[in-house]
Amino acid sequence: MKTSLTGIKPTHLPHLGNYLGAIRPALSLVDHYRTLYFIADYHALTTVRDAEALRGYIRDVAATWLACGLDPERTLLYRQSDVPEVFELAWVLSCLIATGQLERGHAFKDVVARGESPNAGIFNYPVLMAADILLYDTDVVPIGKDQKQHLELTRDVATRLNHSYGDGTLVVPEALIGEAPLVPGTDGEKMSKSKGNGIPLFEPSKKLRKVIMGIKTSSESLEDPKPAEGSTVYQLYALIAPGEAPEMKRKLEAGGYGWGHAKEALFEAVDAEIGPKREAYLAIRADEAQLDALLHSGADKAREIAHATIQRVRRAVGID
Ligand code: ADP
Ligand code: TRP
Repeated sequence: MKTSLTGIKPTHLPHLGNYLGAIRPALSLVDHYRTLYFIADYHALTTVRDAEALRGYIRDVAATWLACGLDPERTLLYRQSDVPEVFELAWVLSCLIATGQLERGHAFKDVVARGESPNAGIFNYPVLMAADILLYDTDVVPIGKDQKQHLELTRDVATRLNHSYGDGTLVVPEALIGEAPLVPGTDGEKMSKSKGNGIPLFEPSKKLRKVIMGIKTSSESLEDPKPAEGSTVYQLYALIAPGEAPEMKRKLEAGGYGWGHAKEALFEAVDAEIGPKREAYLAIRADEAQLDALLHSGADKAREIAHATIQRVRRAVGID
């Protein structure tokens, strides 16, 4: 089986967009790959400046993925920071990457374009990400289009290292570009933590219902036919209940079926899908000691792989 690796940045409590756009697709890989999932806490440090909040997000994210079905018996789940070998590899890689390539990094360029002055963590972000990937002999990395450039840099530097120091030192990974859906938020724009348009994953049912009832819709009267495609309510419904979606589309387009009805149906479907996960999340999140122990045990196994890679790299470059 090939190895697939997924990095998750703990920068906020996950929302429904993260679940449908990232968590659910990533967890569907376990049947086809040997899977590794890790919490990229040192990457989060480029933006999160509140230690207590970061501590919380790390556990929120781990508990969310576990509650959504990540099975630690079948996959490896660990924290990036529990495997410090990643920094050793990042240094070696950085000596093979031209600063010009990092200056062309999208995230770095965006900060500069906003007239802000980026920290060196943002500049070096792709180097640490390459080390995350190469440390574990990763064959494929499931990513969205926004991470393509990072994968290209990872492949470049791995190829360069192999070329300089011997083929077979590092596994050159492939990007697995998924067709993950873009999940709209309550205002119809891409759901995002920073836009305040998020649908919460694990808030109580009542709160979830209130947020869903607040989704923006067009203003036809009850009797009017309504456009299903392009409406946020229908788009979300199609993602949550694809089997039932044609029926909702028919009813909306026929008229006599209000947005309130559609939102009620959406709420029922979301609540049915995430209700059991919410219970699991609350139980996992409540026992921090057990959650931390689980992450540490994942890290112990991850470190074995990391150690072997670092030994190989050290030997190859002449530092052994
Ligand atoms: P970003 O990557 O925009 O900072 P997150 O940290 O929330 O946002 O993203 C974590 C993962 O969730 C990424 O893989 C991202 O593509 C996915 N994701 C976030 N928001 C959405 C959305 N509205 N629709 C689909 N996927 C999303
Ligand atoms: N950069 C990724 C993101 O913003 C997170 C990440 C860090 C990652 N290291 C990784 C993803 C290694 C895949 C592989 O979402």
